[in-house]
Amino acid sequence: LNNGLGLTPQMGWNSWNAFHCNIDQTLIQETIQAMITTNLSSVGYVYVNMDDCWAYARTPGTNVIIPEPTTFPDGIAPLAQLAHANGLKFGLYSDAGNFTCAGRPGSLGYETIDANTYAGWGVDYLKYDNCYDDNIPPETRYPVMRDALNATGRPIFYSMCEWGVDDPWTWCVCFLCIRNAYVRFHPPWILYVLKRDETQCSDPVQTFSNANNVCSGNVPQSSHFHRAGDVGNSWRTTGDISDNWDSMLSNWDNNGPAADAGPGGWNDPDMVFLCCLEVGNGGMTTTEYISHFSLWCIGKAPLIIGCDIRDMSADTKMILMNKEAIAISQDPLGQQCTMVASQNSGNQNVYGTPLSNDGYAIVFLNRWNNSAVNIPVTWTQLGLNSDTSYSIRDLWAHEDLGVYKGSFTAEQVSPHGVMMVRLTPTS
Ligand code: DGJ
Repeated sequence: LNNGLGLTPQMGWNSWNAFHCNIDQTLIQETIQAMITTNLSSVGYVYVNMDDCWAYARTPGTNVIIPEPTTFPDGIAPLAQLAHANGLKFGLYSDAGNFTCAGRPGSLGYETIDANTYAGWGVDYLKYDNCYDDNIPPETRYPVMRDALNATGRPIFYSMCEWGVDDPWTWCVCFLCIRNAYVRFHPPWILYVLKRDETQCSDPVQTFSNANNVCSGNVPQSSHFHRAGDVGNSWRTTGDISDNWDSMLSNWDNNGPAADAGPGGWNDPDMVFLCCLEVGNGGMTTTEYISHFSLWCIGKAPLIIGCDIRDMSADTKMILMNKEAIAISQDPLGQQCTMVASQNSGNQNVYGTPLSNDGYAIVFLNRWNNSAVNIPVTWTQLGLNSDTSYSIRDLWAHEDLGVYKGSFTAEQVSPHGVMMVRLTPTS
């Protein structure tokens, strides 16, 4: 979305994974303080985002949204002010439907009133969910809030949640004329992620069902289709992540393609689910959490922390605050990785992506759960010139591994582990 925001994937915190509906102003105040005292803010985490369950009702007559009076007795504006006073940014949640997923008032039909209210409170980020959609397709509902936010004049990051993931549609769209049209067939995603140049296309648009791939009926020429990147700064591509290896990998494997992402708009496979608190472990091992974070960094996924940052284990802090990994996420080139090689029936994968200044990043992933393995890659597979020498740095060991030309092998990558490296051309 061309609103000047999200030039690199957004970094921050969101209340949902750790707290669900158990949020109140004390939690948000303490989280704002913790962003500073933990130094998370100094490595780039800036957004403090409240998820569902802050909204209570609409004011009779004006329809202005009222925050839950018991949990937010002082309202929302002071929280945004506190965030700003600490150099942070403040985010809210609403829903492009009649209710939020937790049954609070939604914004459908109240987009302008709500956008103005948020802007008046000093909100910097809106996560916009997709429950209770009134059977109106997302490409109709989501641009309305985009335009309402834009009209406030306040830059507000627009994070589209469940954009299409949960939609009950079973049809997708095919074009007889695909010239200048952007088309993707990737069930269960819905094919509003496309754009068509009507001046180049006179053929009618047809729909067909996913079930049998048979075209049936026309969609009027005037139908509007939106690329997600024209509507929001990020868009969820998967259901909710859970705190376990299979869920994390499933979200990773089903993330949107690299071609959709770039400065201004990012595929969002959901939050960074790091649950290791000071007391008690999360659902993944430290090795697995490192893999999770590495993939989210090279995949240019939003780095929105889902844990209680007031109470993080040393490992959680170490992972979330790895500046060298974060630098891959925040590289200004903004190119999401692709899988460039794979071995042993897809159980080991090499993900690569170009960086600014002719650099390159690689994550070698071992999906096996019981043995370490060597994972090789050649410059040809990476799309690099075979004659170029690169110095290679291990971004978790924080050490230089030497200068390589033509190929590199990640040695003995741990079960469920990664090696993450940065390649810098030698002059
Ligand atoms: C569904 C979303 O995917 C979650 O991240 C969270 O926002 C909940 N809705 C809130 O109800």
